Amino acid sequence: MDQWVDIRDLKDHADQAVRWRGWLYSKRSSGKIIFLQLRDGTGICQAIVETSQADAFAAAATLTQEAALELEGRVRQDDRAPGGVEITITGLVPVGASQDYPISRKAHGIDFLMEHRHLWLRSRRPASILRVRHTLIHACREFFHQRGFTLIDTPILVEGAGEDAQTLFPVEYFDRKAFLSQTGQLYLESACMALGKVYCFGPTFRAEKSKTRRHLTEFWMLEPEVAFAQLEDVMALAEDMIVHLVQAVLARHEQDLAFLGRDLEPLRRVQKPFPHLTYSEAVDRLHSPDLRAWADRENESDRVLLQEKTGQLGSLEQQCADARKEHQRDALMLQIHAVKEDIQELETTLAHRPEHVKLAQTFKWGEDLGGSDETFISRQFDRPVFVTHYPREAKAFYMKRDPADPRVVRNMDLLAPEGYGEIIGGSQREDNLDTLTVAMREKGLRPGDYDWYLDLRRYGSVPHGGFGLGIERAISWICGLKHVREAIPFPRTMGRMTP
Ligand code: 4AD
Ligand code: MG
Repeated sequence: MDQWVDIRDLKDHADQAVRWRGWLYSKRSSGKIIFLQLRDGTGICQAIVETSQADAFAAAATLTQEAALELEGRVRQDDRAPGGVEITITGLVPVGASQDYPISRKAHGIDFLMEHRHLWLRSRRPASILRVRHTLIHACREFFHQRGFTLIDTPILVEGAGEDAQTLFPVEYFDRKAFLSQTGQLYLESACMALGKVYCFGPTFRAEKSKTRRHLTEFWMLEPEVAFAQLEDVMALAEDMIVHLVQAVLARHEQDLAFLGRDLEPLRRVQKPFPHLTYSEAVDRLHSPDLRAWADRENESDRVLLQEKTGQLGSLEQQCADARKEHQRDALMLQIHAVKEDIQELETTLAHRPEHVKLAQTFKWGEDLGGSDETFISRQFDRPVFVTHYPREAKAFYMKRDPADPRVVRNMDLLAPEGYGEIIGGSQREDNLDTLTVAMREKGLRPGDYDWYLDLRRYGSVPHGGFGLGIERAISWICGLKHVREAIPFPRTMGRMTP
């Protein structure tokens, strides 16, 4: 009994004495028995201590939420218990006290929780999301490793824009100015000419002045780059990768996803082939009378849902008023809070939809698709959808001009279903030196500033391409989150730098 046993392994120790250490998640007492909900990062488990264990009982009575403790006890199989087991405590030692822990089992608003993110991570919701994040990142590395890609770590301090000069974060760099990297792509293009198939995974930075639910100022991006690849090859790679990632999460996290209230059906449908349409076809869809009819149907079903939720709220509030025990009221308050959030969300969607329909119907060919346009398009498909061949003026300088239609580039965005919008942006790259320098000048960039990058077109240039997957956007979609800020341990947004 020298080893500490983790909660996730307790089931292998039925009828044995064990030692365990961790934190108190919550506690209730029936006078003769104290029920402790314990957590240690691997799960949550119930332990009980009876008055017959006088010392342990007295120690348990002093414990408050998030106090740290060590205990000894016997594992008992109990099919009704969350992990299938319960611990009967025989000894208990408090380790670290916890006075007035600010996050109670009661409902809190998102701003309060974000201000206490350093503590909120201990709660079940963030922990579930972060476990999914871990698996997703692991599965990305696994996928590219299995396919013979070499990992290339690209720099974070860079000289200039890799995407959009408007969103660069400047940094003092001795007597010069440097910037935080927006993408590893330009360096990966260089590395793919050396190693063939490469990828990078790291933090990227964008000074985006947008307060949307899809934007962080610091986010993590996974970027593969492949020599001798055309747009179609890059799309096939993205498709295989997304299927692999979703399968990996489904295989390991059904419980976490269920806890997050994620409907698994849409995830199970993520199978090849993904539909694709060109940007021009997407614009036709935005202009089509079908869109208005579709928006009317969405309004109708949202109103029905709103009615259902309002009814649900009423009955939960009644149950809460009738509840005798405080822990029952707390649990109901949490549900009430969640339903209120859903109601607010539906009301916002309904309020904004007319404006979004108008934006869609007056959309001008040449603009980049906005968030609401992406939502409209992605909602029309039951799996991720590629939008390809955007106008040159809407996209970055490095994308390859389409020989069949020089107004557009050979690029793709992958839009996640259920309205989540762009999770991947990628393209074939311009491999012709002259066309590339012209494109740079058109975007107001000085080719001289990118001389090393242009060398790749001077010495053995080949068709090549790749893409970037925004990890937090992928997590938001897979976990069914309302905002990307929950998909990263410590989010940085325009309005938040702490904790
Ligand atoms: O479309 P983006 O800007 O593409 C690139 O950076 C390319 N250089 C990638 C490449 O081809 N190697 O960004 C790629 C993805 C987006 O699809 C989105 O998922 C995510 O990065 N992303 C953001 N995620 C969170 N917050 C932001 N501000 C993001 N900006 C982009
Ligand atoms: Mg993009």
